[in-house]
Amino acid sequence: MSAHRGQWSSKLGFIFAAAGSAIGLGNIWRFPYIAGENGGAAFVFTYLICVIAIGLPVMLAELALGRATQRNPVGAIETVHPGSLWKAVGILGVLTGVAILSYYAVIAGWTVGYMISSAIGRPLDFGSFVADPMAMIFYQALFMIITIVVVSGGVEGGIERWAKILMPMLLVLLLILIIRSLTLDGAFKGLEFYLKPDFSKINYNVIIAALGQAFFSLSLGMGTMMTYGSYLKKDDNAVASGFQVALFDTMIAFMAGLLIFPALFAMGKDPAAGPGLVFQVLPEIFKAMPLGNLFGALFFLLLAVAALTSTISLLEVPVAYFVDEKRWTRKKAVWTVGTATFLVGIPSALSLGANRFFSSIQFPLIHKTGFLDIMDFIWGNFSLALGALLLSIFVGWVWGADRALAELRQGAVDFSWQGEGWKYLIKIICPVVIFVILLNLFI
Ligand code: PHE
Repeated sequence: MSAHRGQWSSKLGFIFAAAGSAIGLGNIWRFPYIAGENGGAAFVFTYLICVIAIGLPVMLAELALGRATQRNPVGAIETVHPGSLWKAVGILGVLTGVAILSYYAVIAGWTVGYMISSAIGRPLDFGSFVADPMAMIFYQALFMIITIVVVSGGVEGGIERWAKILMPMLLVLLLILIIRSLTLDGAFKGLEFYLKPDFSKINYNVIIAALGQAFFSLSLGMGTMMTYGSYLKKDDNAVASGFQVALFDTMIAFMAGLLIFPALFAMGKDPAAGPGLVFQVLPEIFKAMPLGNLFGALFFLLLAVAALTSTISLLEVPVAYFVDEKRWTRKKAVWTVGTATFLVGIPSALSLGANRFFSSIQFPLIHKTGFLDIMDFIWGNFSLALGALLLSIFVGWVWGADRALAELRQGAVDFSWQGEGWKYLIKIICPVVIFVILLNLFI
């Protein structure tokens, strides 16, 4: 390994960074609203299957390739299979990072706006907040700048230490809020919607939404976990770490649902309200509890931090590419990519009412309305799934599942028969299932 590349200071360093990337708005903002739009419990059931059968094997594939090559996604593929078209998979990951970050920063900006409004005790009306162009662009820019400053200053010291304290706090706060939500009048109906599956509701839309959400939430399909895996030491147990990250991530998403749906039904709101869902429901929960403003401000602060550890990882992939492959300085890469990402994100920022064109634009194939929703489907869902498909073929067949397994077994000697099962999943099940699901999109 070259000297300028860092390594995680400890095994926990990796787990916190990778869990920090995975846990974010995907769990608390995206998971509940996508579940709400896709029938609740039937979606949750499908989601869990996608995480276990598809997400986890792809996670291990990314970690193996990253650790074996110690490179960014483009460089990693180039190392294993020089001069081939497979490099394009890495490039797709770099582009996807920019595209997801462009609208992710918009939503992350909302959490900052809500944090301030709770702190000063002036509740925001969601509809008018997101229709205010100045506020939208201000908060989006603010969040991008924070991300840029952290990524250019080096991730290890500050953010690692912060995340170690704040992530557990988020967990505790979630527990407290869940209790409040579950004890609201009429909460039970929400619990039923969330946990009692009506299997007849599982259709193609539910399946593709669940698969996309699994990749989004676990930060898979664009090389994030490959990049983070590249900082692992050879004697680290990548398998156990991958499992732990997936488990934490799924637990937090599950808890977010337990928080949102009981309250939502107690208030008689529509579960299919879309991207604004949690921002409309959460303030009502805070209103219904003592010290609500304080809890609200604290919750949105922790959510903003969770989002920050994810935006950092989104920016890190394109930055690592420009630093490693194009020999840019880190500072130049961070500011150039960050500024471009901000500009790409402006239409998303204006697409919830601030600008008529971006708010009403439609995308034929997928029945999505509004620029942000369309971006989220194309990049946050389709492109990650496509990336995961290509990566599983690359690792399973081009690099070779045996070589990948040998890499994983370094530091994980007990990955014996499970490892054989993993080979089968990554070579056959993952590619076939993802391919069939994506194919259906076009017919
Ligand atoms: N997993 C992050 C979340 O749930 C989002 C993300 C996706 C981060 C892809 C990196 C790569 O919020």
